[in-house]
Amino acid sequence: MADNFKRYTVTAALPYANGPVHIGHLAGVYLPADIYVRYLRSQNRDVKFICGSDEHGVPITIRAKKEGITPQQAVDKYHELIKKSFEDFNVSFDIYDRTSSKIHHETASDFFLKLYNDGKFIEQTTQQYYDEKAQQFLADRYIVGTCPKCGNENAYGDQCESCGTSLNATDLINPKSTLSGAVPVMRETKHWYLPLNEYEQWLREWIVEGHKGDWKPNVYGQCKSWIDQGLQPRAVTRDLDWGVPVPVKGAEGKVLYVWFDAPIGYISATKALTPDWEKYWKDSETKLVHFIGKDNIVFHCIIFPAMLKAHGDYILPDNVPANEFLNLEGDKISTSRNWAVWLHEYLQDFPGKGDVLRYMLCANAPETKDNDFTWKDFQARNNNELLAILGNFINRAVVLTQKYYNGAVPARGELTDYDKEVLGVLEGMPLVISTYLERYRFRDALSELMNLARLGNKYLADTEPWKLIKTDEERVKTIMNIALQISASLNILMEPFLPASAQKLSSMLNKPVGKWAEAGSADLLAVGHTIGAPELMFEKIEDAAVEAQVQKLLDTKKANEMANAVAEPAKENITFDEFSKMDIRIGTILAAEKVAKTKKLLKLTIDTGIDQRTVVSGIAEFFNPEEIVGQQVSILVNLAPREIKGIMSQGMILMAENPDGSLAFMQPSKPIMNGGGVR
Ligand code: 2FM
Ligand code: ZN
Repeated sequence: MADNFKRYTVTAALPYANGPVHIGHLAGVYLPADIYVRYLRSQNRDVKFICGSDEHGVPITIRAKKEGITPQQAVDKYHELIKKSFEDFNVSFDIYDRTSSKIHHETASDFFLKLYNDGKFIEQTTQQYYDEKAQQFLADRYIVGTCPKCGNENAYGDQCESCGTSLNATDLINPKSTLSGAVPVMRETKHWYLPLNEYEQWLREWIVEGHKGDWKPNVYGQCKSWIDQGLQPRAVTRDLDWGVPVPVKGAEGKVLYVWFDAPIGYISATKALTPDWEKYWKDSETKLVHFIGKDNIVFHCIIFPAMLKAHGDYILPDNVPANEFLNLEGDKISTSRNWAVWLHEYLQDFPGKGDVLRYMLCANAPETKDNDFTWKDFQARNNNELLAILGNFINRAVVLTQKYYNGAVPARGELTDYDKEVLGVLEGMPLVISTYLERYRFRDALSELMNLARLGNKYLADTEPWKLIKTDEERVKTIMNIALQISASLNILMEPFLPASAQKLSSMLNKPVGKWAEAGSADLLAVGHTIGAPELMFEKIEDAAVEAQVQKLLDTKKANEMANAVAEPAKENITFDEFSKMDIRIGTILAAEKVAKTKKLLKLTIDTGIDQRTVVSGIAEFFNPEEIVGQQVSILVNLAPREIKGIMSQGMILMAENPDGSLAFMQPSKPIMNGGGVR
């Protein structure tokens, strides 16, 4: 199912170098892009796979500020981290570049200049928020205020994260600069705008009419709704000191808007990769495909194409197969809430198991709707699918060949109808899978790959060569030959999805991973060819491993609750006399034991200095009786005694409480004599 293009330029969204990459990024963008590119390479097509770090824009400056470092230091740190984790995950970019590079600054600058000189921009002076203390104009993310919709006092100038409404900075009630806390003032500033309204008709023809039924419904739908709402001129410059400087007179202190320079990053990275870069960007026989997440659709389908059209020298994307979002354990993935599975941490926690994550994320990819990642599902996909279906089939085929024939591929004899049927399915499988891949349906493609492994398993289970070997050695030769041919095809077809496992299988079969066109053949492994020793392709993932990950998330949830907790408002005033009525003393715990048949209660014996008395306290969930003996505590000694679970409790231990309910003793900061008063 090849198309007619001569070559392919495949881009994956440039991740912001303001934090590590997580599973949502992988499932949405990088994994499908890598599968697609590996498949094209297997088809011997001429392809360049382009990516790099997006190092400009406000997200970077905010991160740098948070970490107390310069924007350059921030991007250096995260660029390296992201690049390395992609490599370790076998994402096979031809180049992973960065937008702080010289070549990118030049390319983006030239691009702007060409549009500027051709009169494609409109210049406009508007009023914008300015922080007089910090002496700078404020990007939307640098302004907080009260959301006019829901009253959240910490809404940003572009969006309220509490109710999700998208806002203009001027909508905020009581706006404040996050840089200095100052109340911003309005000041005039000049910017350059791309008049998207002038491209509306053309975009309608190109997308709404030209790509109907061809682009994914989620992508097409979003574009159509943008265009139907009517497009407005869009500023392509910003008042910021981090980015590509605007290369014209009168624009001092201004930089290109990050969404203007970032997609040009695809072009500059290709330039950095090859002197032949122009044919990947300027020849209509090149197919340009952008892999992105759904939040990037408008930029890649409307704004960047309008820029390319305005420039005039470039091809346009043939497709933009954007995915929806992946959630984690039922909750939205969030960098700021640390609610994510970070790629570099996964690779540390599960060494050598990159392919398991690739499998899980592809099988569960949010291709048509948002999807959920759970650790239970991850374990099940590994144990019940990768291991039980694919790993098991390969293992049987290789182990039995070693056992019966010392690893030499046996010849097939006469074929039964069943053999012919199985070989028929094998022959048709590459086309079935490639048809899905060419349509960006990676889940379906992977599911067909697994169906081939399932077929192999069923074939062996039905024919039972391990029993037949005692009665019909000739028949077993045919069966094992067919099982090995299926294994060899699986090796080719699995490579885009599971590259590390494909290398393992290739060494087991003692044959380099072949090309797509060879897959499906009944003669991939020649009779007499000696295969290698069996290796385990996949291992069982035990409960403890996934439980540790779930615990990590629970800890994150707790930490977030603590960080976001707000202290309760103060109670009504009391008089000093009222306070003085409470007789609080320092005492020492002499003995502690659990109260039988209760979960929460401890029976404590306290030396109060006045006497030794019994107090029943609801702290058993947080303290071991043995560990608290000898500790000093504060005790209210004149609380009227009361019976708790048949024990007379004489007083109350004072405790401090966290939002998660955890407790701590109120202890003196240096030893105080028992009976010492607290006031
Ligand atoms: O959403 C993001 O993470 C952006 N950094 C993507 C940029 S894609 C491209 F245009 F560079
Ligand atoms: Zn709101």
